[in-house]
Amino acid sequence: MTSELHYSPATNAPPRPGVFIVFEGGDGSGKSTQARILETRIREEIKCEVLLTREPGGTEIGERIRSLVLEQGQGQIDARTEALLYAASRSAHTHQVIAPALERGAIVVCDRYIDSSAAYQGAGRGLGERPVTELSRWATENLLPDLTIFLSLGVSDARRRVTSRGAADRLEAEPDSFHARVRDSFHALAQSTDSARVTVNGGGEIDDVADRVWNAVAPVLTAGEPR
Ligand code: TYD
Repeated sequence: MTSELHYSPATNAPPRPGVFIVFEGGDGSGKSTQARILETRIREEIKCEVLLTREPGGTEIGERIRSLVLEQGQGQIDARTEALLYAASRSAHTHQVIAPALERGAIVVCDRYIDSSAAYQGAGRGLGERPVTELSRWATENLLPDLTIFLSLGVSDARRRVTSRGAADRLEAEPDSFHARVRDSFHALAQSTDSARVTVNGGGEIDDVADRVWNAVAPVLTAGEPR
């Protein structure tokens, strides 16, 4: 690994015309629903190109990696292999999809990004948040979000939502202790200041959560100055 891994903060990233918004949170926190609602709202209110995408996935190779890491019955996947697979999916995603969209001036809304790897592989699997984050920063050439929204939801509410969705995927099937480490890690990441982050209460009615999300996102979208 080279000195490229000693990344600079987001504020030193190269300027780009688009806006990059990421949703993060534990399983069942409602990210995917809120990402879809936000996409529609941006389309209606700002009338510009909006790209809704997700990780792992978002590209052909990424969707294949998604099947490998999430479907049960793919054989044993050790923690480092898992971390590298998520990073590989993310590299394809940023280079093939996210960076070109931002260059076109699009608003990109992404369901999960680097902090998911830090929380799930770094904390959940015990690989360490810092090395796992550095791996992803290398994989993405340090392309960081303009805003990360952490959707927070109580453990029992999240568990109930995941259970009501039917068969658990490989990560969802991990024990409560794993998900507790993931949740604590997200909580700590939400406080860090290396890029813009905000925590939104994911509890209650979907529309109320959507309004809270919009209140957090609108100032970033209307900041005015093209970057
Ligand atoms: P997904 O169906 O997107 O979960 P959810 O709908 O709850 O967001 O599945 C993504 C799963 O992959 C989720 O359990 C978290 C896990 N994951 C990681 O472990 N590391 C990562 O870097 C990413 C992006 C996801």
